[in-house]
Amino acid sequence: VGTLPAYRRRGLVRAQMDVLHARSAARGHLMQVISGIPHYYRQFGYEMAMHLGGHRACFRPHVPKLAAGQAEPFCLRPATLVDVPFLAETWRHGSRRHLIACPYDAAQLRYELTARDPRSECRLSLAVIVSPDGDRAGFVAMRPVLEQGRLNVMVYELVEAVSWLAVTPSVLRGLAALADTLAAPEPATPDPGATPDSGATPWHALSFQLGTEHPLYTAARRCLAPPAGPPYAWYVRVADLPAFLWRIAPALEARLAASLAAGHTGELRLSFYRSGLRLAFQRGKLTAAEPWEPIGQPGASASFPDLTFLKLLTGYQMLDEIRAGYPDAGARSGEAEVLLGVLFPKGLPPVWAIE
Ligand SMILES: CC(C)(COP(=O)(O)OP(=O)(O)OC[C@H]1O[C@@H](n2cnc3c(N)ncnc32)[C@H](O)[C@@H]1OP(=O)(O)O)[C@@H](O)C(=O)NCCC(=O)NCCS
Repeated sequence: VGTLPAYRRRGLVRAQMDVLHARSAARGHLMQVISGIPHYYRQFGYEMAMHLGGHRACFRPHVPKLAAGQAEPFCLRPATLVDVPFLAETWRHGSRRHLIACPYDAAQLRYELTARDPRSECRLSLAVIVSPDGDRAGFVAMRPVLEQGRLNVMVYELVEAVSWLAVTPSVLRGLAALADTLAAPEPATPDPGATPDSGATPWHALSFQLGTEHPLYTAARRCLAPPAGPPYAWYVRVADLPAFLWRIAPALEARLAASLAAGHTGELRLSFYRSGLRLAFQRGKLTAAEPWEPIGQPGASASFPDLTFLKLLTGYQMLDEIRAGYPDAGARSGEAEVLLGVLFPKGLPPVWAIE
């Protein structure tokens, strides 16, 4: 998003956002997500409500060595179109760790392998992790070039029932070998008069851009530097909250059924101070999700100033965390506090930037 300096402050981006939102609504989208400069998108109905980024580095000396005489248990090989169903299924399996996940389906993977513009910043190079007998154990996806001496790894997933502990040392060594290759200078035409080149451009770290939590961070605990800082956030917009809640009703009902409030009957009136939302449940089923007018009405079950309810909705923050930043947020009863915790648990998203 950008406007030439001479044309700024004339409402061009505002007009652009109106068009985008209308187009998105026409397609039936219930949520919009964008990354961007601090604060800016709030004015268009967005709240920062999903982790964006979060990474851990394995510095070069900390890549574990293979013991003398030991054969490498797992290797990396480039993924091909034949691997697409495997990659999609492995991603789908990994997505179960998350509350919200972006599908990385066969079409997207085929696009990645065959059609992505080589100049794209989002380009990924995909490699399958294989055992010596050729079984596929998982895959990694990384940027195909070194960036400031780092190899950025964007995905690391394993199939079900394969041990992260067993595979991870091999993956670290495989990625280090790949970084060596990327760092190697292009073979140049020999020039007898030239001074000898100092050799390869060094790389110094494998940078795992895998969010704030990932099995790798535990499996390779001693190889990784501590997190450098907190992640940034995606901006999230949900213009029609009742429609969104009806869409996720099966998830809400499943969470309720698996909780201490299984079979619950009752209602939650959520005040956003200038607007509100009423949710009703009958024997554990959602029977109402509708706008509710809080002004002048007693009986709100919980209050969320501005768009802070979105932080709860996406699993970004729990009620107490929201309240820590907004003293005018919070539940008005113990029952509401428990129900909101059950219906909107905390969780992490892996969300992809798609060109
Ligand atoms: C940020 C940027 C895209 C805004 O473009 P623009 O065409 O001036 O935007 P608009 O005129 O539609 O402004 C919309 C509103 O945002 C406000 N605004 C403009 N720049 C802003 C900024 N940097 N921070 C906060 N608000 C800003 C405007 O005042 C306007 O509010 P108003 O209607 O109440 O007056 C433009 O300044 C730009 O290209 N900046 C450099 C690139 C950049 O940072 N892009 C954002 C990447 S996410």
